[in-house]
This record gives sequence, structure tokens and C-alpha cells, in this order.
Amino acid sequence: MLVSDTPRPVIRPRRLRTSPAMRRLVAETRLHPADLVLPMFVREGAAEPQPIGSMPGVVQHSLDSLRRAAAEAAEAGVGGVMLFGVPLVRDARGSAGTDPEGILNLAARAVADEVGGAISVQTDLCLDEFTDHGHCGVLDELGRVDNDATLEVYREMALAQAASGADVLGLSGMMDGQTAAVRDALDEAGFVDTAVMAYSAKYASAYYGPFRDAVESALEGDRRTYQLDPGNRREGLREALLDIAEGADAVMVKPAGSYLDVLADVAAASEVPVWAYQVSGEYAMIEAAAMHGWIDRERAVHESVVAIKRAGADTILTYWALELANRLRKGDLA
Ligand code: PBG
Repeated sequence: MLVSDTPRPVIRPRRLRTSPAMRRLVAETRLHPADLVLPMFVREGAAEPQPIGSMPGVVQHSLDSLRRAAAEAAEAGVGGVMLFGVPLVRDARGSAGTDPEGILNLAARAVADEVGGAISVQTDLCLDEFTDHGHCGVLDELGRVDNDATLEVYREMALAQAASGADVLGLSGMMDGQTAAVRDALDEAGFVDTAVMAYSAKYASAYYGPFRDAVESALEGDRRTYQLDPGNRREGLREALLDIAEGADAVMVKPAGSYLDVLADVAAASEVPVWAYQVSGEYAMIEAAAMHGWIDRERAVHESVVAIKRAGADTILTYWALELANRLRKGDLA
């Protein structure tokens, strides 16, 4: 008889993976519909939802279809909707963003009217959707993004959004001092309960490509004077700590999937909730590979979002929020 020299393992981690029930029991990370926020686009003047070429399954809503979709998200238990406006007219100062009748403010009012209280209403507070040059701020006479002049416009935008019924303002412009400036403007005007979520560690990323399609924004130049260098890890944490010190109610890391180390750093250090944004390019990559039959779509969607939660995100913005919430409710996912 052949006697093996290999000792029999005493410790067998596989024991915990033997059945679906056992795996479910020991799962360390579970998604819940309330963890998820659905980003949504609304186009001024649209009578019908318009498809977005580089984001199959995502549309630019009309105000009517936005209301219905927000109600559907609330029904599914999704934690929030993050609204982005697509204006018909853009100018150098991004006036449609501060106009109370601008498309984003109309959208916030429509959603707050439809489902306010049942789901959190969130608005993007940034100028790139509204400027003709596509930058997140206003420009000085040399064409550079003028930080402090932009803060003045952000303050005005914040008041318009809060007055429209937004519960959470998503500060995505990466200007220095934006959290303190917006908090101050809100408090001064009596909007003490309007929350500020700072896109603190927002990287200058190629993964925002499809988003530019979605908001029909053409950018002159790039955003590297205000968004972070993809190689900088420590700086992501620094930005988050600054926003917390300035009074942010939540901080965000964006994109999510390629920045899980930054997310873990921020989650370890933060005393406020930490959010992550699974951005348009992350969505498009999985959808495109799945269309070719190169990847199992449902599994990849779930895995990509679970990984973001595992790394430390409390809340995740994802274009799959509604789909995942529905799958979770049906019990398709453990
Ligand atoms: C700025 C903003 C952007 C995104 C969210 N807020 C664009 C940018 O900074 O270039 C991108 C989100 C995505 O790609 O899904 N308003």
C-alpha cells in the first residue's frame, strides 16, 4: 500500500463553503437596496426618454419619465437618486445651474414632489453640465479655472437646489474650500438640514467618458488642475479629511473600482459616512463585455458592487442601483 507523506489538513476553510446556506451564513458583505443610490439624467425639453449610446440601459429622462423612474426606485427601496441636468443652453458662467427654473432645479422639485420623504433627493452641485466650455468652474481672463470665483457660483447653486427640495447636495467640482463655502451659504439662508456630500477624492479619470455623452458636455482641455492624479493615494485621504473638517456630512471616493485602496484608507479614517461612485465607464465596460458574451453580466454587476462595499463604502452610487435592488428583493442575491 502506498502511504502518502502529505499530512491531512486539520484546518479546512472550505468547510464554510460547502453549501449555499453555509456560504450565506458566513458572508462578510451584504448589499441592501438602501445602500444604493441611482444616478439619473434629465434633459431639458425632452418629451420622451432618450437613450445614451455609450451607456446601454441608461436614458436621459423627460421630467415625466424622471418622476416615474424615481417612484420606481423608491418602491424598490433604493436609498436615493442623484440628479444630473442636461440644459439646452450653456454659457460661460453656467447660469442654468443657478436659475431656479433651470432643468436640474425643476427636476429636484419634480422628484421631491413625487417621492420626497420616501427616498433621498440628491443633486449634482457642479458647473460642468452648465458651462459652454465644460469646466467645473468659471474661468479667469487667462482661461484658468478660477477657484474662488467658482465658490460664489456654488453658493448660489446650493441655495437654488436646497430651495428646490434637494436633501443632499453632491459637491463634485473639486474646488478648494467648496464644502465650507456651501455649508456657510446654506446655514446663512436657514437650510441647516440640507446635507452636503463632498466628492472628496475625485480623480481625473478616463472612466467618466460615457458621462460626457450623457450630459452632452464637450470639454476644452482637461480637469487635471482640480481633479486628483490617479497615482496619488495619500492625497485622496487628505482631501477627505479636509472636507470632514469643513463640515461634510459624507465624503466620497470616485471612481470606485480602480480606487478601492483609497476607499479603504478613507473608510478607516472617516468619522462620517463614506460613499463611492461606480462611474459611467465602469458601467459601460461591463455592459459592453456582456454584450459580446465575454462576461457573465449578472455576476459581474453584483461582484463589482460587492467589492466596493467590501472595501469600505457605506453607500454606492451605481447605474445598476434599481436592477440590484430588485434582484435583492426577489432574493436572487444572498
Ligand atoms: C461632475 C461630475 C462628473 C461625474 C459626476 N459628476 C463628470 C466629471 O467630473 O467629469 C461623472 C460620473 C460618471 O462618469 O458616471 N458634474
